[in-house]
Amino acid sequence: EKQASPVLPAQRLMVVANRLPVSATRRPDGSWQLDLSAGGLVSALLGVKQNFETRWIGWPGLYVPDEAGRKSLQKALADKGCVPVFLDENTVDQYYNGYCNNVLWPLFHYIGLPTEDRLAATRSLQSQWAAYKRANEQFADTVLSQYQEGDVVWCHDYHLMLLPSYLKNHHTQMKVGWFLHTPFPSSEIYRTLPLRSEILRGVLAADLIGFHTYDYARHFVSACTRILGLEGTPDGVEDSGSVTRVAAFPIGIDPDRFTQALETDVVKTHIAELKARFAGRKVMLGVDRLDMIKGIPQKLLAFEKFLEENPDWINKVLLVQIAVPSRTDVPEYQKLTSLVHEIVGRINGRFGTLTTVPIHHLDRSLAFHELCALYAITDVALVTSLRDGMNLVSYEYVACQNERKGVLILSEFAGAAQSLGAGAILVNPWNVSDVAASIEDALTMSEAERAERHKHNFQHVTVHTAQAWADTFVSELNDTLVEAELRTLK
Ligand code: G6P
Repeated sequence: EKQASPVLPAQRLMVVANRLPVSATRRPDGSWQLDLSAGGLVSALLGVKQNFETRWIGWPGLYVPDEAGRKSLQKALADKGCVPVFLDENTVDQYYNGYCNNVLWPLFHYIGLPTEDRLAATRSLQSQWAAYKRANEQFADTVLSQYQEGDVVWCHDYHLMLLPSYLKNHHTQMKVGWFLHTPFPSSEIYRTLPLRSEILRGVLAADLIGFHTYDYARHFVSACTRILGLEGTPDGVEDSGSVTRVAAFPIGIDPDRFTQALETDVVKTHIAELKARFAGRKVMLGVDRLDMIKGIPQKLLAFEKFLEENPDWINKVLLVQIAVPSRTDVPEYQKLTSLVHEIVGRINGRFGTLTTVPIHHLDRSLAFHELCALYAITDVALVTSLRDGMNLVSYEYVACQNERKGVLILSEFAGAAQSLGAGAILVNPWNVSDVAASIEDALTMSEAERAERHKHNFQHVTVHTAQAWADTFVSELNDTLVEAELRTLK
């Protein structure tokens, strides 16, 4: 007779990331408004629901000066399974705006800063580095206050590269994983980073280190061999006989969240409205955080070139560009906003008529149901990042295109090019003529070819989900530790 298998308690998973899935703002009456945070990290981790009892640890996105405010926010976040790390204003400025977003972020995306900014970063290095360490220590303290033996602690991204070593210093037995959501650059680029060794050592303390693609993992291993003089092995990095496993774990989304939303009345109503509004025109879509890595100015120039070379399309095609404000305290991001506005204005002035403009540009995020409707009704998506760890907008677009079978134009410098490359039109975003030609190809592609390409991509997006990604990472982390224990028994 078949025995019912015992129900095991779900494994406790602590997700530690700078950004919580919700960001807080304080209403005038002192109560808290919690909104979904933007970005690939959050959109992937939201898709991880089953198999784990998950707790999030992270920064709520603002400075809370008073004890009463911190207490009430803590309570509001607890209902969402979140534990806040309260950073003071100076730390946010030096750690988040400074070291994370003005030093590590551009470097990891191969973006050269203007000389002046680079010099300023060099001058502030000591204080920014001190803040980076302080913030990582604060995250470690919060993890330790929540930790129970057997928990898996999964640290995320470039903000928390010292955290694995801080945690392991306290608990050598703790299961610690670290995953990078950005590219890891070639070691030729990485080695220009002052304090490059400390950062590598911080990460190497983890039991398992993950990247989106095999290339990023390889770059990391070569940085360890070239800078720290360690041995690279097929499995990872070896240091005095012990191996830290380094591997690729391509991330995904929760496709059901999108396909199910498309069945709801609210999204269907939006779809009908948008179709009526854009009737008679093809619609192309860009959805990006307003970030230099996303290549928004280059995308606009490519669209301008397309209209210039194909005047028949003027008035017959519209580009909807959603640019979600991001890191607005960092000067580079402010400059980018003005630049984008200037280019949009010029193109609309040049090709607009009294009743239409070719670019519909929004400086804000959309509600989820609006976004799904927009994904569903557009004929072409333009993802032209100059560099991007993965880019999940491309996945979300594919998930919403079962009916229309729209075309994805995708940068070869996004991690997603390695998974959706066969179904998308791949472009070099720096080559404006190449992108302009791809726009024409996409707009005129036969239905049969669109269906074929979409089928390939949809299959990928539904199999390689966020849940599958998390399951694989955590089960490898568990295995890595079992292997380590077996080695010590030998
Ligand atoms: C990228 C990073 C994430 C980050 C997101 C949004 O996807 O990999 O760690 O959360 O951008 O940026 P923000 O600075 O607002 O958290």
